[in-house]
Amino acid sequence: MHVLALVTQKGGSGKSTLATGLAVAAMGEGKRVALIEADPQGTISKWKERRTNPYPHVECLADPDEIERLIARLEAEGIWLTIIDTAATNNALAMRAIVETDFCLIPARPTPADIEAAIPTLIAIRRLGRRFAFVLNQTPPRGCRVSEAGASLNSLGCLALPYIGQRNDHQDALGLGLGVTEFAPAGKASEEIRSLWGWVSQQLTAGLSDHEQIVLKAVS
Ligand SMILES: Nc1ncnc2c1ncn2[C@@H]1O[C@H](COP(=O)(O)OP(=O)(O)OP(=O)(O)O)[C@@H](O)[C@H]1O
Ligand SMILES: [Mg+2]
Repeated sequence: MHVLALVTQKGGSGKSTLATGLAVAAMGEGKRVALIEADPQGTISKWKERRTNPYPHVECLADPDEIERLIARLEAEGIWLTIIDTAATNNALAMRAIVETDFCLIPARPTPADIEAAIPTLIAIRRLGRRFAFVLNQTPPRGCRVSEAGASLNSLGCLALPYIGQRNDHQDALGLGLGVTEFAPAGKASEEIRSLWGWVSQQLTAGLSDHEQIVLKAVS
């Protein structure tokens, strides 16, 4: 089983939106997917209540000491991908989620304040020796701000592709208990999420790159 976590202490960056979007995109490829909600705010469980499709499976987690057992259970149940949505804080639960994950995605909006606010999370991920990538989310349709933000995130580590644009489909899908690829399958937002899922699934299934092996060796 692969484990992916959406993490950043910056609130409102798109962790829950991308968690649901990616989960449903992976389901669209026939994968068995579970979501772990490690955020008392409850965005994922409220999304699940609005949903008529019983999948993906959603588990709520409050106790950091339970995460290992929960992941083992999901794996035993035949889940192929577990996505953990964390809270906007570097609390014990978020740290344990990072430890238990194969890959961390750090969503950031393309503003200097948002990128700055993600740095404590990046430091924690590096200290724990986990693989990660930033994903630029809620990017405006045009302007040099996005390429500047992309360049600065690239300089801090890996940057996932494509960027995810600011599009109402994400908000409407979340409000209806749908993944964006269910809400508007032919829309641009769906296309971007499917491509992002393609990028992420490659990272999950591929071995470590030479660069990552060197970085992980250096921090361990
Ligand atoms: N690409 C996008 N386009 C448009 N709206 C978006 C996009 N991504 C997220 N949003 C909206 O931005 C708001 C915050 O997103 P979300 O709740 O996913 O962030 P979060 O990081 O999980 O927040 P928190 O830290 O509070 O848990 C939501 O209203 C969501 O619908
Ligand atoms: Mg959230």
